[in-house]
Amino acid sequence: MTYKENIGIIGHPIGHSKSPIFQQVALDYHNIQEKFTAWDISDEELPKIVEHFKSKNFIASCITLPHKLNIMKYVDNLTETAKKVGAVNWIFNNKGKLTGHNTDCSGFIRSLKDQTGLNPNSKNALVFGAGGASRAIVYGLKISGINSITISNRTIENAEKIASDFSDKNFLVNVINFEKTQIDKVASDVDLIVNTSSLGMTGGPAPNTSPIYSNSIRKSIVGYDIVYAPIETPFLKEIKSSGGITGNGISMLVYQGIEGFEMATGLNAPVEKMFEAFRKA
Ligand code: ATR
Repeated sequence: MTYKENIGIIGHPIGHSKSPIFQQVALDYHNIQEKFTAWDISDEELPKIVEHFKSKNFIASCITLPHKLNIMKYVDNLTETAKKVGAVNWIFNNKGKLTGHNTDCSGFIRSLKDQTGLNPNSKNALVFGAGGASRAIVYGLKISGINSITISNRTIENAEKIASDFSDKNFLVNVINFEKTQIDKVASDVDLIVNTSSLGMTGGPAPNTSPIYSNSIRKSIVGYDIVYAPIETPFLKEIKSSGGITGNGISMLVYQGIEGFEMATGLNAPVEKMFEAFRKA
C-alpha cells in the first residue's frame, strides 16, 4: 500500500498526540490510501504548511495547540461554528479553498450523550470556567436546545463576555460569581454540571480541588469534566458520591476527531474501532 500525505494534524509539540493512531484506523477501515500525518509546525512555519493544505489532493487537517487561533487568518472561510467558538480545530480543503471549522462543540455533545445518556434539549446547566473550552461547550449546549446555562467563574468579566456573545432574544446565559452560596442556589435546580475550569487537573493550579462538593449536588445529576487527567477528577468523585452520573473529557477528544474525519471524508467513522485504538495507544 502506498501512502500520501494529504490528511493529518498540526501542532507544536505534536509527539504526544494520539490522533494519528486512531485516525489511521478509520482511514484503513475505509481503504483510503493515506497516512494520517503528524506535522510539528512552529508559528513561523504556518504559512508554508498552509500552501501544502491548498494543494490539489489535500483533504483536511486537525489543528491543535498552539495554532487554533492563528490558523484563522489563513483560511478562506470560517463556518458559523468556528466564528462563534472563536477557534478552529479542523480545516478542510475544497479545490484550493480552505474552510476552518470547530468540532469541539459537537464532539462534546456526542461524548455527553454517549457517556451519560443525557440529551441537553430543554435541560438546565451550570458550567464552571470561562476559557476557550467553556465557549465551545456553551455553544454546543445552546445549539442542542438547552433551556438555560449559568456560568460560574473566578473572573466574572470572562464569564460575562461569553454570556454576551451567546445570549440573544430567545436565550439568556446567566453569570454568577465563583462563590458557594450562589453556586449552591443554581446547583439545586440544574440537570447538568460541566467543569471546564482547570480545577482538579493534574499539574494544574489546584489538583485536589473540586468546584462543587457532594452536599451541594442533587442526586441523579449528570456531571461532566473536560479535564481528563486524572480520569476520575475530584469533581467527578463528588458527583459519584452524590449518586450522579459522570462523563469525562477523554471521549470528547476522540469524538472531535471522529466528527472531523466524517466531515473530511463524507464517510461514517468506525467509532468503536477508533476508541479501541485510542485506548491501546
Ligand atoms: P481553556 O482555554 O482550556 O478553557 P483557560 O483559558 O486557561 O483554559 O481557562 C481556565 C479556566 O479555569 C478559567 O475559567 C479560569 O478562571 P479565570 O477566568 O478566573 O482565569 C479557571 N481557573 C484556573 N485556575 C483557577 C483557580 N485556581 N480557581 C478557580 N478557577 C480557576
